[in-house]
Amino acid sequence: MNTPVSQTAIWQQLADHARRVVDQPLTRICGERGRFERMCHSAAGLTLDLSKQRIDHAAFAGLVELASRIDLGSAMQSLFAGAPVNSSERRAALHTALRAEAEDGGDRHAEVLREREHMLSMADDIRTGKWRGFSGKAIEDVVHIGIGGSHLGPALMVDALPPTWKAPRCHFLANVDGAVADAVLRRINPESTLFIIASKSFGTIESHVNAQTARSWFIERTGSITGFSNHAVAITSKPEAAKGIGIDPDRILTMWDWVGGRYSVWSSVGLPIAIHLGSDGFRKFLAGARDLDRHALAAPIDHNLPMLMAVAGIWNYNFLGAQSHAVLPYSHRLRRLPDYLQQLEMESNGKSVRTDGTAVDVQTVPVLWGGEETNGQHAFHQFLHQGTRAFSIDFVAAIDPGHDFDSHHDWLLANCLAQAEALVRGREVAGTDPLAPHRSMPGNRGSTTLLLDSLSPYSMGALLALYEHKVYCQGMIWSINPFDQWGVELGKTIGESLHASLAGQAAAESTAVTQRLIEV
Ligand code: F6P
Repeated sequence: MNTPVSQTAIWQQLADHARRVVDQPLTRICGERGRFERMCHSAAGLTLDLSKQRIDHAAFAGLVELASRIDLGSAMQSLFAGAPVNSSERRAALHTALRAEAEDGGDRHAEVLREREHMLSMADDIRTGKWRGFSGKAIEDVVHIGIGGSHLGPALMVDALPPTWKAPRCHFLANVDGAVADAVLRRINPESTLFIIASKSFGTIESHVNAQTARSWFIERTGSITGFSNHAVAITSKPEAAKGIGIDPDRILTMWDWVGGRYSVWSSVGLPIAIHLGSDGFRKFLAGARDLDRHALAAPIDHNLPMLMAVAGIWNYNFLGAQSHAVLPYSHRLRRLPDYLQQLEMESNGKSVRTDGTAVDVQTVPVLWGGEETNGQHAFHQFLHQGTRAFSIDFVAAIDPGHDFDSHHDWLLANCLAQAEALVRGREVAGTDPLAPHRSMPGNRGSTTLLLDSLSPYSMGALLALYEHKVYCQGMIWSINPFDQWGVELGKTIGESLHASLAGQAAAESTAVTQRLIEV
């Protein structure tokens, strides 16, 4: 059994120090000499500012020491080298190989490159009109069918970045709720539509049901069964299953079992991104992630963005008692970022046993939530300023937003800075006015500010890679496996048996109360 991190001397020291830090005003901590230079670092078009975190000089040194005792540097090397870091499934987690160049791509580089070029040339054929539907029409609408890791990354990126000239429109079909299929299918013409079915397992019910609906709809509308093969691409690690629903073998792109679903946006799962941005845009997306990878491997801990972000999270959750983590993008275009990160963080580190099978004795990942700003200021910020619960925050903003409405952007950034500032300073309303306690704000609430140089494919690649590595580092500190997701299995199995029961095919094993509900 590994020694639990909570029993290490450095963890105990940090716990003792945290008890002292909570008594210090955050304004004083923010005023430490050399604070900004120590706590704000940049790499790959991103700037990570931890200077408003409740991490004083000694806490910072202790957290760097923790990262060094855990040996995050070696853990990072093992990840990139293809060690079986997904221990419960005995395999590597080589999403970094998907964005690597020849010099750092490892043994799998040739195969990765072949697949990447195949996907990118397909994307360019679709964009340029070289790809034709069965009746000779060019593709104007792309419907991406997939859920979880086979959906959230492409949906985030297509929303975050404007399409390049003449890109077909991208629609997403994730939920099994027929309302989504209904809304999407109403808007498109089958003769100029391409369906992408992305499912690593090709067994996920939502994607299976949506793919069957898409195929039936296509055949019904066009009267052509064989024509469907000109209108469908599959991305999967189970090509036989894709062939089984009529996908042309040449149009089946590969997902490898050594890439987890929530880490797969860099693979052929990114096809809608490549269609939306063009192959050049997709290459820039990979380049941003690759530069962040190189930074994560080479930078010393006290300048290493993902490692610093990881230990700042550990400090907030494990020592200061944060119960949730808010990701607040000051960007309409990044409004899907919290959804993407919910899967990345909570499916990865929502675990309660360590890799050796023993129970963790510290809290692991908190609830991650968030939403588009400044809209949130008029909704849930009251809770941030005067609520009773402890939380941590990432404010995320782009310096160059990619539009010309400068006065809007100035207001957006001013609001972002103002919220972080208000949370630090608070406001004390003194006097005998009975409203004074209501109008006072405690302040002393820390946050991280993360700035993207611009909203570009490059910065987005770096941003997503940064969070991936942060999640990995936190998993290493808690000694848990961030790459499996056994917890989602049971609900799926029960769902299948209840589906059979609802359809009157078999009695499901269920509690008496569920049985009663079925009968309503
Ligand atoms: O249910 C969770 C999950 O297994 C995720 O890990 C995955 O991203 C998603 O389902 C979709 O899986 P697939 O790509 O195999 O359809």
